[in-house]
Amino acid sequence: MINPMDLTGKHIIVTGASSGIGKETAQQIAKLGAKASLISRSEDKLKLVKAVLEGTGHNIFPFDLKNISGIEGLIKNIVEKQGPADGLAHCAGVGDMRPLQVTNFDFIHEIMLINFYSFIELTRTISKKRNYNENTSIVVVSSAASKKGDKSKTAYCASKGALDSSIRSIAKELATKRIRVNSVLPGFLKTEMYDLYLENVGKDSFEKNVLSHQYYGMGEPIDAANAIAFLLSDASKFITGTGLIVDGGYLS
Ligand SMILES: NC(=O)c1ccc[n+]([C@@H]2O[C@H](COP(=O)([O-])OP(=O)(O)OC[C@H]3O[C@@H](n4cnc5c(N)ncnc54)[C@H](OP(=O)(O)O)[C@@H]3O)[C@@H](O)[C@H]2O)c1
Repeated sequence: MINPMDLTGKHIIVTGASSGIGKETAQQIAKLGAKASLISRSEDKLKLVKAVLEGTGHNIFPFDLKNISGIEGLIKNIVEKQGPADGLAHCAGVGDMRPLQVTNFDFIHEIMLINFYSFIELTRTISKKRNYNENTSIVVVSSAASKKGDKSKTAYCASKGALDSSIRSIAKELATKRIRVNSVLPGFLKTEMYDLYLENVGKDSFEKNVLSHQYYGMGEPIDAANAIAFLLSDASKFITGTGLIVDGGYLS
């Protein structure tokens, strides 16, 4: 039986691989045959994830992606050890909340560094000659919040909106290199980030204002991971410059 999402022989770089969507993505792409290069800050957590991945050839690269000027060296190191990339899944991100009156430049900058600037620098360096193979696919995790907005999430929503806008430009520019670029926009999924959100807004408010509109209930990390795997695979070879909404109907 053929599997249109088969990733056999592909080398995929996964950021945020220590937890939540990134961890699930690493596990799913390994099941589909890919070799994974795992990035996040926590070496201990990455080791645990690597230990449970199916297949061989996986490797970990502990790194703080807020160190933007270090990303080019990180990719050079990954390519030297693992070979050129066939894909990137940028799942690393933070969801810190602050009311507008205390949303200052430093706070916005911290969020943009990891959620947006690191994605641009990763994409810029991966798309350099010898760092990628033909038919590479780049996928970034945006959020339904990019389209819907949320109280106390100006910086977060703006960072996700920046991702969704940027992929349209980057896809046009990288089409000549046969590199596709897309985003996935999840609704609310059960991860550590969601736990923090629930602490901030309260369970009752979440159920009344959010869950009642997310018609299929709480999502799981695997729901985003499957969408990411699809966009990384050749099953999506005619899809670039677009956002795939995975939200149980929240934005409908
Ligand atoms: N969960 C949801 O409901 C939901 C909905 C929509 C969108 N999203 C998006 O999905 C993505 C993943 O979120 P999640 O829910 O899976 O959250 P999570 O479980 O908190 O995972 C976040 C990941 O990002 C990594 N990370 C954070 N800061 C980093 C840094 N400076 N350098 C390198 N890695 C860093 C963390 O690893 P370390 O701590 O080891 O560095 C962790 O692996 C985020 O972009 C989020 O905005 C989530």
